Amino acid sequence: MKVANHNNTGKQVERDYAASQAVEFRETGNVFEFGTYHGYTTACLAEVADHVWTLDLPNGGEGLSLEIAAGKDLGHFYKFHKFANITQLQEDSMTFDPSDIPPCDLVVVDANHDYEHTKNDCDKALSMLRAGGCLLVHDAHYPSVAKYLAEHDHELIPNTRYAKILLSN
Ligand SMILES: C[S@@+](CC[C@H](N)C(=O)[O-])C[C@H]1O[C@@H](n2cnc3c(N)ncnc32)[C@H](O)[C@@H]1O
Repeated sequence: MKVANHNNTGKQVERDYAASQAVEFRETGNVFEFGTYHGYTTACLAEVADHVWTLDLPNGGEGLSLEIAAGKDLGHFYKFHKFANITQLQEDSMTFDPSDIPPCDLVVVDANHDYEHTKNDCDKALSMLRAGGCLLVHDAHYPSVAKYLAEHDHELIPNTRYAKILLSN
């Protein structure tokens, strides 16, 4: 799915890469995303996954109100396209309990990029993956994200801002 580029979102090559990983790692068909925003990546994932859960803050994200209206426009892109296989969760990822989510092939982390949130989100993501599943962490070049990645075996994906961590089988 082709999507216009906006500030604070990924690029088309990144959305295509994330979708390709949902296909490459497909076993359960389940995908989870930390950080919905406009829902561009969500829509690209929903095209190829059986089900996508996507999590964002209840008010639509503080500090991003120039592009996304609080409580109104969250996920507007996937909503416009009327995907029936997306569940929108609205909760702070710090309090989010991932235990109700079935095992996922792929989790994409792209929410708050400070170290505390990155560790919270990625550790929860790893707990949600099926054995052999794939974690993609966006904005891997941020020092706070790179600090977390340095604590784990990972691969930087060329031409994207993704790093990939694989859960062992
Ligand atoms: C960079 S945007 C996500 C972009 C989206 N993944 C995409 O590809 O278009 C980051 C999103 O994370 C959300 N966010 C920030 N902190 C969060 C938290 N603690 N819990 C849940 N969502 C959070 C923001 O509200 C914002 O919508």
